[in-house]
Amino acid sequence: MQVDLAKLCPQVVELSRKAGAFIRKERQRFNTDAVELKGKNDLVSYVDKESEILLVKGLREILPEAGFITEEGTTGENPESYEQLEGYHWIIDPVDGTTNFVHSLPPYSVSIGLTWGRTPVLGVVYEVTADECFYAWKDGGAYCNGEPIRVAPVTDLAQSLIITGFPYRVFSDLGRLLDIIKHFTLHTHGVRRLGSAAADLAYVAAGRGEGFFEYNLKPWDVAGGVVLVQEAGGFISDFNGGDDYVFGRELVAAGPIHPQMQKVIAEYWNQTPTQP
Ligand code: IPD
Ligand code: CA
Ligand code: CA
Repeated sequence: MQVDLAKLCPQVVELSRKAGAFIRKERQRFNTDAVELKGKNDLVSYVDKESEILLVKGLREILPEAGFITEEGTTGENPESYEQLEGYHWIIDPVDGTTNFVHSLPPYSVSIGLTWGRTPVLGVVYEVTADECFYAWKDGGAYCNGEPIRVAPVTDLAQSLIITGFPYRVFSDLGRLLDIIKHFTLHTHGVRRLGSAAADLAYVAAGRGEGFFEYNLKPWDVAGGVVLVQEAGGFISDFNGGDDYVFGRELVAAGPIHPQMQKVIAEYWNQTPTQP
C-alpha cells in the first residue's frame, strides 16, 4: 500500500520536534556519569534510548504497517540483513552526534528516514541546538522550518567547502582518508568536521557547504538526510559512483560538484590501503 507522503511528513516533523525538546531539556541537566560505552569511543546514554522509545511509539501510530531499523535497537525488530527489505521501514537515529551532545557542542540531531524497499522516500532531520527542522519527501521538495531549500549552485570544486567525518572507532582506512582530505585541503575553500552526519546532509541540502563525504556510516546516520539532498537538487552516490549509499557504509552527497568530488574520492579510495 502506498501512503500519502505529503500528509505523513508534517506528523513526522512534529514528532521529531518532540524528541528534540526532550533532548534539549535533558542536556540542561546532563551529567557525564550517565554516559555508557557501547565500544571504543562509542558513547550512549539514557537520552539516546528514551528519545528512540518516544520516536518509535509515535511512528507506530503514524504508520502502523512500517517496520523499524533503529540505532539503539530498542524494538528488537532490526532485520538481520538489509538485503531483502520489503514494504516500509522507519530508519531512526535518536541522537545523531552523541559525542557532540555529551560535550555540549553543536550540532546534534534527530534523524528519521522512511524507506520503501531499500529506497528512502521521506526524511526528517531536526537539529536540536539551532531548532532547525529539515524535511523532504520524494517528489515533494525539501524544506527547513517551512522554507524551501536548495543545494548551493557552485560548479567549481575550487570554490567549494567540503564537509566530512573523521573515524573514531575503526582506523584501518585512515591513510586513504587523509590522502583525500589533503587533496581537498589543497584544492577547495577547506574541509570541516561537524560531528553529525544527519546535520551534514541537511546542511548540504540547504546550500551550507557544497559537498559531504564519509565512510563507515550506518543506515541510521544517512537515511533521514539523503532525501533532503536529492529533493534539494543534489546528487548522492557511494564512493565509486554507485547507488549503495544507504546500506553500503560510504557516501558522497553534493550539489553540481558531485562528479568532480566523487572522482577525487574514488581515485584515492581505490588505491591499496596504507597506514598513516
Ligand atoms: C555519528 C555521527 C558522526 C559520524 C559518525 C556517526 P552517532 O553518529 O553521525 O558525525 O562521523 O560516523 O556514527 O554515533 O553520534 O549517532
Ligand atoms: Ca549516528
Ligand atoms: Ca546516534
